[in-house]
Formats: sequence, C-alpha cells, structure tokens
Amino acid sequence: MTSSEVWDAETARRYDDDSAEMFAPDVLDPAVDLLAGLAGDGAALELAIGTGRVAVPLAARGVPVTGIELSAPMVAELRRKVDEATMPVSVGDMATTTVEGEFALVYLVWNSLSNLRTQAEQVATFRNAAGHLSPGGRFVVELWIPPVRRMPPGQHAVPMSVSEDHLVLDTYDLLTQQCTSHHYRQQPDGTTRYGAGHFRYAWPSELDLMAQLAGMELEARYADFARRPFTADSESHVSVWRKA
Ligand SMILES: C[S@@+](CC[C@H](N)C(=O)[O-])C[C@H]1O[C@@H](n2cnc3c(N)ncnc32)[C@H](O)[C@@H]1O
Repeated sequence: MTSSEVWDAETARRYDDDSAEMFAPDVLDPAVDLLAGLAGDGAALELAIGTGRVAVPLAARGVPVTGIELSAPMVAELRRKVDEATMPVSVGDMATTTVEGEFALVYLVWNSLSNLRTQAEQVATFRNAAGHLSPGGRFVVELWIPPVRRMPPGQHAVPMSVSEDHLVLDTYDLLTQQCTSHHYRQQPDGTTRYGAGHFRYAWPSELDLMAQLAGMELEARYADFARRPFTADSESHVSVWRKA
C-alpha cells in the first residue's frame, strides 16, 4: 500500500509533451553530467524512473541504469524508447521495492520524493536507496523548497506558473506539510483541463536526518544540477549523500 497517486495511462501518454521544458538540453545536460560523474564505472538505479527522461540519456552516456516505478503506464511509455534487457524496470513502490544488484548511484529527481505523502514512507525510501548502494555509493535527490515565504498570513495559495495556456497554483497545509498543485491547462479547442497533484514537502534538514537514519551523510548540496550554490533564496536543491 502506498500513499502515492498512481499515474494513469492518459497522464503517462501526455507526460513527455506536458513536460517538454524538462527535456530541454539546458535542463537535462547538467543533470546527466553530474549523475554520470557520480556513477563513474558503476551502475545506477533511478527511483520513480517515469518515462526515462533522465535515465535514457544517462544510459546513452554508458551508465547501466535500472529503474523502479509505481505506474505501469509510465513504464509502457519508457518501453517505446528502450527495451527491458537494456533498462530493467520493476513496477512497484520506491519505499519498499527492491531490485537485484548493487549500485554506485541511486537517484530520485524532479521532486518525486514528495509523491510519497507520509514521513514514514519518505524515511523508508532513504533506507531502500541506501540498501541498494555499494559502500561509498551516492544517493542524489532533487527536490523543491516549499515557497512558504511567499505566503503572507491568511494566504494559502501560491502562483507557481502563470501564462496564457497554463496556470499553476499551489496550496499548502503548513501543519501537515501537505501541498496540492492545481494545474489549469488551456486546450486547443479553448476548453480548460484541470488536474491536481498531492505532495508532502520536506526541508533539506529533515532529509539529512532521513539520510543519517539510513547510514548516509551529506556530501554536497547545490541549488541545481548546474551546481550553483545553495542559498537561503534557493527554490530547489540537489543533494548528494554518501553511504558510509
Ligand atoms: C515528476 S515524475 C518524474 C519521472 C522521472 N523521474 C523524470 O524525471 O521525468 C514522478 C514519477 O514518480 C512516480 N512515482 C510516484 N510515486 C511513486 C512511488 N511511491 N514509487 C515509485 N514511483 C513513484 C510517478 O509514477 C512518476 O513517474
């Protein structure tokens, strides 16, 4: 049983188009560079591998990549790009699913840790990641910093993206660390498509404690994959923990 929403076939079919900006070379290249460097001559495991946005170019760089993914339709989309022998993927929950092998690198990108909406499952995911790492291996997480500084008292929604054809409003429950992301997308026929995602946010310090509980310690924290410095104004972070 997982607290994550299971992405359906329609969401999976639209994923690459709806996320086109995340496939742009200026977004992907620094991510693949950093991950390939950390993997070295070893293998990588991507938790929540999705349609292979990062895994496919990382494999093209010569890193063997295995995946765990909750949504079978997302894996079906990945299979249009790469076969099972080249990139094995287990369908299951990243908090509990295990795969064969030992990895130099386990990674979990684009805010996907927050798809698990309980602290216990997020802690379990760190333990699961550490369990797949060889000694000295790295766990990399890319996660957003909740923009609660943008919310004056009495306001509970934050505009995350505003354009003619796509409006995103995030609402927050500060007591339970829950966030709902409301997406309004204009369709070619002029109608509006609404979709919502539900998340649990966590601060970097909470993740450091999860890593510590799993036998890992922080090695580096950047604002992004281009390794810009992480500051109090950063809106996301890329963190690297090393297994003892
Ligand atoms: C934002 S997408 C990221 C996909 C891919 N990593 C990428 O960067 O494009 C989030 C992914 O997390 C998956 N997911 C959500 N909860 C999960 C869980 N508990 N275990 C494994 N995968 C999960 C979703 O099905 C989806 O494919």
